[in-house]
Amino acid sequence: MRDDASGRVFDWLDAVAEQRRCAGLTRRLRPRSAHSTVLDLAGNDYLGLARHPEVVEAAAAAARRWGAGATGSRLVTGTTELHARLEAELAEFCGFEAALVFSSGYAANLAALAALAGRDTLVVSDAGNHASLIDGCRLSRAEVAVVPHADPAAFRKALDERGPRRAVAVSDAVFSVDGDLAPLGGLAEACRAAGAALVVDDAHGLGVLGDGGRGAVAAAGLAGAPDVVATVTLSKALGSQGGAVLGPERVIAHLVNAARTFVFDTGLAPAAAGAALAALRLLRREPVLATQARAAARRLYQGLAAAGLPVSPPDAAVVAVRAASPQAAVRWAAECRTAGLAVGCFRPPSVPDGVSRLRLTARADLTDTDLARALSVVTGTAPTCASGDG
Ligand SMILES: Cc1ncc(COP(=O)(O)O)c(C=O)c1O
Repeated sequence: MRDDASGRVFDWLDAVAEQRRCAGLTRRLRPRSAHSTVLDLAGNDYLGLARHPEVVEAAAAAARRWGAGATGSRLVTGTTELHARLEAELAEFCGFEAALVFSSGYAANLAALAALAGRDTLVVSDAGNHASLIDGCRLSRAEVAVVPHADPAAFRKALDERGPRRAVAVSDAVFSVDGDLAPLGGLAEACRAAGAALVVDDAHGLGVLGDGGRGAVAAAGLAGAPDVVATVTLSKALGSQGGAVLGPERVIAHLVNAARTFVFDTGLAPAAAGAALAALRLLRREPVLATQARAAARRLYQGLAAAGLPVSPPDAAVVAVRAASPQAAVRWAAECRTAGLAVGCFRPPSVPDGVSRLRLTARADLTDTDLARALSVVTGTAPTCASGDG
C-alpha cells in the first residue's frame, strides 16, 4: 500500500459493494465453456442461429474478405458491400424505406433518440423501457415525461400538454423483462393525434413476431409509416451482433450526419454484418422459425402455470417467472444451473417494478426433450413461495 492518499481514492467503492451484497444485488462474471452441456434459456438467440453453420461461415468469410474490424467510422473508412446489402435487405424485410446499422442495438437506440430529440423536444417514454432507450432520452437533453407502463392514454395526455414543442414518443415493442407487447396501435394513434413521432424498439420482436418474423412494428401495420422509426438489434434473433435504425429515408440521412454513435463509433464489424445478413436470409427462407420460437414460449408458459408458478402468458418468446426477492431469484437461478439449465435472473435495477424474476427465453430449436427438461428443472427447484413484491 502506498503511503500517500492515492491508495484510498476508491475506498468508497468498498462501502457501495457491501450495500450491494447486503441487498442481494451483486453481479459476478462466470466463465463460459465452449462445450457446455447446460441447456441455455438465458441468451436471446431466439431462432438458434448464433451457431448455425451458414451464419458462422458467413461471419468467417466476411472477416477473411474485409478483416477482423471495420477499422474506423464508416464516414472515414467507407461502407462495405456487406453493410450496404444488410441495410437494404433489413429495410425491405421489415417494411421500411431505409436502414442504418450500428455497432450495437444499444448504440442504435442512443442514435435514434439523441438525433431526433433535443432541448426543444418533449420525449414521452414508457416506464418499462429498456436502459438503452432511457440513456438515449438522457443523451438527447430533451425534457422527458416518463408515463405509466403500456398506457396509450397517458402518452396522449403528456403529448397534449406539451404546447408548441416537437415531441417524440418512445416504447419497447416487446418489453425485455416481462416479454409483454406494447399497445403499438394505441401509441401510434396518440402520436398521430398530437403530431408526434413514434420510436419503437423492436429488439425482441424481430424474428419472433409478425409475418415470417418481420417484427412487432410490421405486425401492428406501422412499418414504413412516415412518422414511425423502429430500432432493432442484430444480436438476438439474428444471432450476430449490432443494431439498426429503420425509418423514412430522410430520418436515416439525418442519422448519418447527426447520430454521434454513428459518426464517432467504429462501424459494425464485417463479420457481424456478414453473419446478420446470412441469418436474415435464412429467416426469409424458413419463416417457420418465428412460429416455432413463439410455440416454444407458449409451452414453457403452460408448464409453469400448470405448476402454479407466478408467470404471465408470453406475447413473444420471453417467459418471466416472478420471485419473492432478489436473493430468492439468485438462489433459484443457481439451482437451475446446478441442474444443467441456464436461465436469466433479473433483479433491480434491471426491473422497473422492483420485482425480481427468472427470465426464460424460448428458442425455435428447442426439442420436446429440452422443453420437458427445462420445465422439470424450473418447477423442481422453485422456492415454496415463488411470488412476492421483493
Ligand atoms: C429492448 C432492448 N433494446 C436494446 C437492447 C440492446 O441491444 P444490443 O444488445 O444489441 O446492444 C437490448 C439488449 O438487451 C434490449 O433488450
